[in-house]
Amino acid sequence: MRPILVLLLCGATLFVATRAQALTNGLALTPPMGWNSWNRFHAHIDAALIRSVADAMATNGMQAAGYTYVNLDDCWQSARDTNGVIRADPKRFPGGIQELADYVHARGLKLGLYSCRGTQTCQRAPGSHGYEALDARTYAAWGVDYLKYDNCFPAPGSDLRTDYATMRDALEHCGRPIVYSICAWKFEPWMPECGNLWRTTRDIVDRFDNMIAKLDENDAFARYAGPGHWNDPDMLEVGNGGMPDTEYRAHFSMWCIVAAPLIAGNDVRAMSPAIHDILTNPEVIAVDQDPAGVQGTRVARTAGDGGKLDVWMKPLGFDATTKAVALFNRSVSSAPLTVAWTNIGLAAGPATVRDLWARADLGVFTNGYVATVPSHGVVLIKVTGR
Ligand code: GAL
Repeated sequence: MRPILVLLLCGATLFVATRAQALTNGLALTPPMGWNSWNRFHAHIDAALIRSVADAMATNGMQAAGYTYVNLDDCWQSARDTNGVIRADPKRFPGGIQELADYVHARGLKLGLYSCRGTQTCQRAPGSHGYEALDARTYAAWGVDYLKYDNCFPAPGSDLRTDYATMRDALEHCGRPIVYSICAWKFEPWMPECGNLWRTTRDIVDRFDNMIAKLDENDAFARYAGPGHWNDPDMLEVGNGGMPDTEYRAHFSMWCIVAAPLIAGNDVRAMSPAIHDILTNPEVIAVDQDPAGVQGTRVARTAGDGGKLDVWMKPLGFDATTKAVALFNRSVSSAPLTVAWTNIGLAAGPATVRDLWARADLGVFTNGYVATVPSHGVVLIKVTGR
C-alpha cells in the first residue's frame, strides 16, 4: 500500500465558467445520448442492423436510461441522383432512410446521419461540399434528427470554419430541428457558436492509454461547454472488448464527469450484464445529464507515482453544495486516493457522501474522504456539503 499522498491543487479557477456565445437552436440542452455504428461496425452497416439496434435499445433498458439517437456513421450513402439528391446505398438500405427513420421514430427513438464538409466522406462516399442546403432539406424530409459532419477531403481552397458554418445555416433553414455534431478532430474557439457538439480529439481507440489521452486533451476546453454546446472527446468504446470492465467503468465515469455526449459504440444487441450495467446506471448518467451543464475538470493530482492519482470534480445543480467527484487511479496498482472538501469548493467540516456505482449512502465525513481505488479504476461519489 502506498501512503496517502499530498494532493496538489491544480486549477481552482477552472470553474469560473467563461461561457462562450453558443449556437441557439434549442437542442442538446444536456449532452446527447445515443448509439453510433462506427466504433463497432465501421463500414458494415445496413437497414437490418439499424432496425435490430433500435429494437434492442427500446427493450433492453438503454432507451429508458436516456439513449435516444440511433446514428448511422459513414458508408450509408451511395451516390447522388441526376438532381444531385443524395441516396442511401440501395442494396444495404433498400427502403431508403425515410423508412428507417419511421421505424426508429415508431419506437420513440431518433435517427442520426453522417456526412462530410469535403467532396467525399472519409470512406469515399459523396460529401456535402456544394450540396449543403439540398442535403439539409433532404435529411429534414426523411425525418433525420442529428447530423455528424466530418472533415475529410476538403474542397480545394475551402475553409474549415466557413464549411461548418455553411452546414449550420443549411440546418437552421431546413425546417426540422437537427442536432449538429462537428467532427473536425480538434477544438476551435468558434465551434460553440456553430455546433451543438464538436470533437476535441482524433479518433478514440479501444485501449486505456488512448482513452485517457482523449480525456486529458478534452479537459483544456472545459469552459466552452454548457447547455446546447458540448465538448466531444469521441464516442464510447464501452463493451467493444479492448478493456476490462474496470477500465470501461472508468471510461464511462470520466465521460460523465466531463459532461461528454454519451454515444454508445458497442453492439447493444449482445451485451454482458456488466457492460449493460455500466451503460445504464441511472445515478452515473445523472452526473452527465445534470441540467447545470458544467463540464467537470481535474482539480487535484497527487504528487507521487508520476502524478497518476487524480481527483476530478463536476458541480451538480445550481446551489453550489453538491459535487460529483471521481477518484481516478491511472497507476498499475491499487492505491488510496483522498479528496479534501476544500479542493472541491466546499467548506471544511461535515459532508455526506454517496457511492454512485454502488448506489449506496456511505455516511457523513469530516473535511474529506479517502477510498482505495483499484488500478485503472474510478470511485465515483456525490458529495453534499456547505
Ligand atoms: C472519422 C471520424 C470517425 C468516423 C470515421 C468514418 O473521421 O472521426 O468518428 O466517423 O471518420 O469514416
